[in-house]
Amino acid sequence: MVFEKPTLFEIPKICDPRGNLSVLQYPGTLPFEAVRTYWIYDIPGGAIRDGHAYHSQQEIIIALSGSFDVTTETDDERQRVTLSRSNQGLYIPPLTWREIDRFSTNAVALILSSSLYNEIDYIRDKKTYYGIIGHEIE
Ligand code: TYD
Repeated sequence: MVFEKPTLFEIPKICDPRGNLSVLQYPGTLPFEAVRTYWIYDIPGGAIRDGHAYHSQQEIIIALSGSFDVTTETDDERQRVTLSRSNQGLYIPPLTWREIDRFSTNAVALILSSSLYNEIDYIRDKKTYYGIIGHEIE
């Protein structure tokens, strides 16, 4: 599976009266080999995760519990997606600005990443990001 832009995709779901099960694997349903997983939880009401982009890493964001909004921006597209189902993943390619907000009570955001943590890969300033993608600054 290969995506070129931010994409919401269905994760296979094995329905079972004992509880549903969803799985991603590479190669297969994961668009990249995930080498790092982290999750965001115990989120206070009204919290906003500061926006950033990555030079090279790719990621997938999944709402394991509850819901939240992810806003993505690339050189040609801005979209806001509500994640609320454990069998949906939002693929984020490199050089995508992303922000997460509107967390519900008990929300858990799972993030699968293609790279080890490396602060050098982060672009945390929006003007710097616009400069890199060649976007006019309003
Ligand atoms: P940050 O990148 O600000 O979180 P978000 O992705 O929600 O914007 O990370 C918060 C802190 O956690 C920051 O000090 C860096 C640290 N951190 C790690 O040490 N390893 C990791 O894999 C991640 C994602 C963050």
